[in-house]
Amino acid sequence: MFEINENYLQLNESYLFSTIARRVEIFSAAHPEADVIRLGIGDVTLPLPPSVISAMHSAVDEMADKATFRGYGPEQGYSFLRDKIAEIDFRQRGVKISPDEIFVGDGSKSDTGNIGDILGEDNVVAITDPVYPVYLDTNIMRLGKSSKIVMLSCGEENGFLPEIPSQRMDVIYLCYPNNPTGTVMNRQQLKQWVDYALRNKSLILFDAAYEAFIRDEEIPRTIYEIEGATTCAIEFRSFSKNAGFTGLRCSYTVVPKTLITESVNGKEISINALWNRRQSTKFNGTPYIVQKAAEAVYSPGGQHEVGEMVAYYMRNAEIIRKGLAEKGWTIFGGENSPYIWLKCPNGMDSWTFFDRLLEECHIVGTPGIGFGTQGEGYFRLTAFNSYERTAEAVKRIKEWE
Ligand code: MLT
Repeated sequence: MFEINENYLQLNESYLFSTIARRVEIFSAAHPEADVIRLGIGDVTLPLPPSVISAMHSAVDEMADKATFRGYGPEQGYSFLRDKIAEIDFRQRGVKISPDEIFVGDGSKSDTGNIGDILGEDNVVAITDPVYPVYLDTNIMRLGKSSKIVMLSCGEENGFLPEIPSQRMDVIYLCYPNNPTGTVMNRQQLKQWVDYALRNKSLILFDAAYEAFIRDEEIPRTIYEIEGATTCAIEFRSFSKNAGFTGLRCSYTVVPKTLITESVNGKEISINALWNRRQSTKFNGTPYIVQKAAEAVYSPGGQHEVGEMVAYYMRNAEIIRKGLAEKGWTIFGGENSPYIWLKCPNGMDSWTFFDRLLEECHIVGTPGIGFGTQGEGYFRLTAFNSYERTAEAVKRIKEWE
């Protein structure tokens, strides 16, 4: 008989957001009259911005013409997009990243999930708890005989930020602004992690998918604002949340050429070359039309429109924060992030609170326990619904007995 990857048997039977979708489906089928408001999965609701739509229309026309049709593109992404990313997201912020250090992908879920392909099985991998489930699940999927996953506890007592470990970790996943807790790391805090990684020759996998939601100038927008980070960190960015690409799919991974390690026989290895090798083998590139759409995000009009979309969602975050605070609930995040993390009232556990909020207020959120054991007793709401639906949800919560 053939064998399966037994590691899959160690995973929860279903992915967190699939479980929630199923529970909501059952509830809605039993209560068709219920007007359910979804503040669960971080999916956007505003349509794509006009500049993006117009770029896609032009790209579709190009694909319809023999003279401008495109087949396979470069696996790393077209230079028209990589050049803009390097210039606008990094160089204009004083960070030196070159286009050949950028790999365009089809979403941060795939990028952060696939990065493990180029890392050894025996690494000690540090993951925060609570955490975006993809990092943990994909590491469980590839567990080797001597792999080790260490959970870094992030509780209320330390502001939901991980403490620097006393032992050596080979690989560390960090996500700031954080999913799910909405917390951020300031320069000093992030510097401590970069210094730790440099001291220990560790690799930081930095997920900056929510960078566009940072309002506070003191919060770094990229890990590469911290000295030395280009020799110890890979950064992941997404167009999903800032530009509404959750259904379109586009992201990028920054792998600096200065990020070097050694093979077991002592040979110097470029991580950029390794990731390039992985991508050119397993990935045929993000569609041309989608990359044209992403390029439009960097046009002056695109930048303005995306800024307005982010501001719209952050107004929702503010409404949720204010409303829940007025109700007397303890809340975190939502100031530099589209996620509001709340302490379930009256000591309720996360799933009980989920059920009661759904059954009594017809509101969907995400139980904190779904992000890890440290999330028990907490709950996540997103700011990605419309202003009207968000305001209605807050009203229902405020009137809830
Ligand atoms: C979330 O709700 O945590 C995100 O939408 C999930 C994702 O981006 O894959």
